[in-house]
Amino acid sequence: MLPTSENNQPNLIYLNNAATTWPKPAEVLEEVARCLRLPLHEPGRTTGNGSMDYPSAAREALAAFFHTGPPEHFIFTQNATDSLNLLIHGFAKKRGMPFHAITTELEHNSVLRPLTALEQDGIIRLTVVPFTGTRVNLAAIKKAIREDTYLVVMTHASNVLGSVQDIRPIAEYLHANDIFFIVDGAQTAGHIPVDLSDIPVGAYVFTGHKALFGIPGTGGFFISEPDAVAITRQGGTGTDSRTLTHPFEMPVRFEAGTHNYPGIASLFAGIRFINATGQEAIEKKNTDLTRYFIHELRNIRGITIYNEHPDLPVVSFDIAGIDNHEAGFILARAYNVITRTGLHCAPLVHERIDRGNGCIRASFSYFTTRDECTAAVQAIREVAGSADSQVRPD
Ligand SMILES: Cc1ncc(COP(=O)(O)O)c(C=O)c1O
Repeated sequence: MLPTSENNQPNLIYLNNAATTWPKPAEVLEEVARCLRLPLHEPGRTTGNGSMDYPSAAREALAAFFHTGPPEHFIFTQNATDSLNLLIHGFAKKRGMPFHAITTELEHNSVLRPLTALEQDGIIRLTVVPFTGTRVNLAAIKKAIREDTYLVVMTHASNVLGSVQDIRPIAEYLHANDIFFIVDGAQTAGHIPVDLSDIPVGAYVFTGHKALFGIPGTGGFFISEPDAVAITRQGGTGTDSRTLTHPFEMPVRFEAGTHNYPGIASLFAGIRFINATGQEAIEKKNTDLTRYFIHELRNIRGITIYNEHPDLPVVSFDIAGIDNHEAGFILARAYNVITRTGLHCAPLVHERIDRGNGCIRASFSYFTTRDECTAAVQAIREVAGSADSQVRPD
């Protein structure tokens, strides 16, 4: 058991926020507790005296946060992976015949694996576009487009390189050419302002448990053209119960069964926290910490930084002379510094940057402090120093 601090939290220097943010704002935990104390208010199904209609409130909050709507076009799922599966497989089902799809080397397996499954089933032919520097540009996408290209799935930011992709020109081009564009916003939602009012995406996927400060098991997507995606899940919605076919109206078209109410409450409170704190203040703090961390790492012998200028608070690096898993293990066990090691579910990025070996990733959140960064850098310095002395004995 780890020693705990006064507020009963383990004494960790938690630098794994690109995977899941921790800790969560107190307001989020309180909202989850409040939700669990109340009976469920299921719109259309139960009368909800005194209860809070969290799904509707969260949809409104999401629509305002991403500057688009209508709120019913925001769908709740378990996470970004669930959203991407629903959208990718639903789009393929709707097309009903083989087609060509494009994705990029920057993707997470939650994009690559559903697309590969469709490719293996002979439903799509897939082109994977390479990145240049840390980005995929419109020219590279254009080059891959063929007459039968109907789908592009691309991340808004790399979870390894922390590079935000310029999706606006890509979205505009694809929209003008009738190609459905799914953007994986797992790393951007909450980290940077995302204004979808004038970016014509087909769908934008978000996850709740990262920078939106929700709890695990939350996420969703905004869909601008629901008719482009077939229903792949059917079940109870509390509406049209006489018909045995799943209803068509939004949002229940893509939502079946009982919602994750505490999770949706956490998402609602997470957005409220970001709005109250100010997206700019959050971004500034993250940027300052990231610059400081990179500046300090540069002074350590044996460190290779793979992304010297990230847009997001994500730093990927390697320590010479020690396997990244072993380094991560020592950092956690000996120093209570929690990083993420390995391939970060983005194998194609690593093939390009570190020959598939993987790396150590440190990622920050609004709750990370400068002192924590200083202590983490010192721990990394010591691990690098002992690895170095084994490589070069006196
Ligand atoms: C770019 C990217 N896409 C998708 C995911 C999957 O997110 P979730 O855990 O919400 O399914 C992640 C999470 O690591 C990610 O970084």
